[in-house]
Amino acid sequence: MKVSRTIIELQKCLKELSLSPVGFVPTMGALHEGHISLVKSAISQCPIVVISIFVNPTQFNDKNDLKNYPRTPEGDIALLKNALRETDIVFTPDVKEIYPEEDMREFHFGNLDNVMEALHRPHHFNGVAQVVSRLFDIVKPDIAFFGQKDFQQLAVVKALVKQTGDKVKITGNPIIREIDGLAMSSRNRLLDPGIRNRASIIYKTLSSANSMIGKYDIPEIKSYIKDAINNVPGFNVEYFEIVDDTELIPLTKKTDIRKGKRYYGCIAVQAGKIRLIDNIEIRLV
Ligand code: PAF
Repeated sequence: MKVSRTIIELQKCLKELSLSPVGFVPTMGALHEGHISLVKSAISQCPIVVISIFVNPTQFNDKNDLKNYPRTPEGDIALLKNALRETDIVFTPDVKEIYPEEDMREFHFGNLDNVMEALHRPHHFNGVAQVVSRLFDIVKPDIAFFGQKDFQQLAVVKALVKQTGDKVKITGNPIIREIDGLAMSSRNRLLDPGIRNRASIIYKTLSSANSMIGKYDIPEIKSYIKDAINNVPGFNVEYFEIVDDTELIPLTKKTDIRKGKRYYGCIAVQAGKIRLIDNIEIRLV
């Protein structure tokens, strides 16, 4: 694998190799098995894969969160060395490389701006859209790989590509979980040990939405899930919504369910000092 720090270097490599389709896995580093599964999926479809590692300042609405976001550059390179081929490229730009000037662009995503993460993390998705569109312009990928854990981000990126008319295909890969069910996330390493030991409650409770949907209506399911998690010391549910996978409109009652649509239970939980998100498909049979 090669490591490029600059756009010029990266684009020179891509031009010299001139392989297609170009796969792209954007990340903010602190890599784990979830990222590696994206990389493997990209490798299985593309003769050349670019992995970017860039902690994007514009998507953090909280300066402390940006400061404390885990950074493990050596571990990341070691993990990637194992997973990547000679033709693959790790792109590790600095902030000036991505934003030579302040990015003033504003993006609008309809209902995606009005629900869940967008309500709790103002400007977050504008920052994601800024960096993803910038990275797409630089890498010019044919296929880009994102994790389904960031459910709303995936919907935003698909909407972004629709708006910009970019030809890149967006792929969403399944969530990779720890043995106890906790969704893998770079932030998991920041959890206090006691909180980490109890964090399996999130997926365990989320999963119960599937057994409840046959018997109970949406408000009862929402209350059960919130209460079950809030009862665990150190855990506090920020939101739990059941939404469709395109417009992300929260269901308020089961009679709003539309045939042909897929629905997901999406949750954000404050686990000690760390905020975690997760989701699960709700099987409507
Ligand atoms: O999901 C992430 O790691 C980030 O939001 C992304 C897509 C790399 C943009 O910074």
